[in-house]
Amino acid sequence: MAKISKLEDIVSLCKRRGFIFQSSEIYGGLASCYDYGPLGVELKNNVRKTWWQHTVQFRDDVAGLDSSILMHPLVWKASGHADKFADLITECKKCNTRTRVDHLTEHPDEHTEHITVEAAMADAGKLQSKICPNCGAKGNFTEPMPFQLMFETQMGANVDDSMKMFLRPETAQGIFANFRNVLDTTRVKIPFGIAQIGKSFRNEVTTRAFIFRTREFEQAELEFFCEPGTDEKWYEHWKQARFDWYIELGLKKENLRFREHAPDELAHYAKACADIEYKFPFGSGDWQELEGIANRTDYDLRRHQQGIRTLNKWYENKGDLSKISLANESEDYQSGPLSYFDDQQKKRYIPYVIEPSAGIDRSTLAFLVDAYDEEEVRGQTRNLLRFHHAIAPIKVAVFPLVKKDGMPDIAHNIYDELKKHFMCFYDEKSAVGRRYRRQDEAGTPYCITVDGQTKEDSTVTVRDRDSMEQVRVSTDQLKVYLREKFSP
Ligand code: GAP
Repeated sequence: MAKISKLEDIVSLCKRRGFIFQSSEIYGGLASCYDYGPLGVELKNNVRKTWWQHTVQFRDDVAGLDSSILMHPLVWKASGHADKFADLITECKKCNTRTRVDHLTEHPDEHTEHITVEAAMADAGKLQSKICPNCGAKGNFTEPMPFQLMFETQMGANVDDSMKMFLRPETAQGIFANFRNVLDTTRVKIPFGIAQIGKSFRNEVTTRAFIFRTREFEQAELEFFCEPGTDEKWYEHWKQARFDWYIELGLKKENLRFREHAPDELAHYAKACADIEYKFPFGSGDWQELEGIANRTDYDLRRHQQGIRTLNKWYENKGDLSKISLANESEDYQSGPLSYFDDQQKKRYIPYVIEPSAGIDRSTLAFLVDAYDEEEVRGQTRNLLRFHHAIAPIKVAVFPLVKKDGMPDIAHNIYDELKKHFMCFYDEKSAVGRRYRRQDEAGTPYCITVDGQTKEDSTVTVRDRDSMEQVRVSTDQLKVYLREKFSP
C-alpha cells in the first residue's frame, strides 16, 4: 500500500504545484488525457531536449525528422497496423466492463501484460478462472473479440469523397516513409539513424496509473539502419546507450532493469526485443515497461516497398502513369526504391533496423517518481523533487529576504540578468522558509537570497536544494558559479 500511496502523492503534488492536470477538468475531466501545467511543460521540454541531445546532437550518425501525424492510409496497410494492431477484449456480463484478455488474472492483485494477442487467443478458453477487475465476478465473460487500437478520422470536406484516415499509433512509420528522402538529401551512409519525437494515439482498452498509459501520448523513436549481419551488434549498442541515458539523468540503478522478450511474445515485425523496465509504484508487479528496443529486421522497408509496388500497379492498370511514385521501382526487392547501395562494398541491400522507442510521458512519470522524496527537517516533513539539473523545470529561484530596504530591487536586477541564461523564478511573497519549501517541491536546484549583507559586500546566499547548505557568492560571480554547477 505504501507504494500506491506514493503514486497518489505524486498525482496530488503534480496537481497542487501545476505539473499535470486532468484534461478538460472544468467539464468534469476527460479520462486518460492530461494537460501539462507551467512546471510540467518545462519538465517535459527538458526530457525531450536531453533525449534529442543524446540521440541526435551528440552523434554524427543520426539525423532528425518531424513527420505529420496523418499519413496515407496505405502506410498502415503496409506496416501491418490496419490488420494486426488490435487487442483481444472481452466484456464482463455482470457489469459490462471491457477488459483486454491478456490483462485478466485469477486474483485481483495480480497484473499481467507480457503476452501477444495470439497467445491471449490461445489462452481465451481459460476465461472461466479469470475475474473481472471492475466487479470481481468470476468467469462471466463474452466471447473474446478483436478491438482496433487506431483512432479513425475523415479527411476532406465532402462526406461523399472524404477519405478514412488514422491518427498514427507510432511515430516510426513516418521515419520509414521518409527513409528515401533523408538518404537522397543528406550525405548519410549506413549505419545511420533517423530520430523523431511526436504525438501518437491509441484507443487503449484500459488506461492506467496517471500518465503511464494514455490514449494520446508522446513517443521519442529512433530507427537505426544497418547492414544485415551487423544488426545484433547495434541492438546491443542501443540497449546499453538507452539504459545509460536514464542513469545519467539520475534514475536509480536499482529501479531499472532489462527484460528480454520471449519468442512467443515478440511483435509481428521483431527478431528480438528488450524492454527497459522501471519499478513504478503501482500494481503488484511494479516492474513496468519504460522503453522498448527492438530489432525490426528489414520488415518495414520491405513492406513499404511492396506497398509502393501495389499502388504503382494500380495506377498502371488505370493508365495513370503520372501518379507512379519512385520511378526506379523494380520487381527485385534487393534493388527496389527502399534499398541501399553500399558504394564501397559495391552491393545493394535492404537495411535492417534497430529501434529504441521511448515514451516521453512515461519517462517523465519515472523521473517524477524517482526524484520524489520526503524527509524530516526540524520536526517538519520536507517534500522535495531531487531532479537532475538537466531536467529540473526551474533552475534558479531569486528572493529578497524581506520586502524592504531596497532588497526587492536588487533581487529583481539579479533575476533579470540570470533569466537570460537559466530558467528562473522570482518570489517575494511569504516567509523565506516557505519560499524555500515551495522551490524544493518544484525541484529547483538553487535558491538565491538577497539579504541585509548584500548592500554591504555585494554577496548573496545560494542555497542547495539537496543539502540545504548555503554559501555566500559575490553577485558579479553568480553566473559563472551557476554555470559551473550546471555543467555536465
Ligand atoms: N514503434 C514501436 C512502439 O511503438 P511500443 O512498445 O508500443 O513500441 C513504445 O511503444 C513506447 O511508447 C513504450 O515503451 C511507452 O514508453 C510508450 N507508450 C506506448 N503506448 C503508450 C500509451 N498508451 N501511453 C503512454 N505511453 C505509451
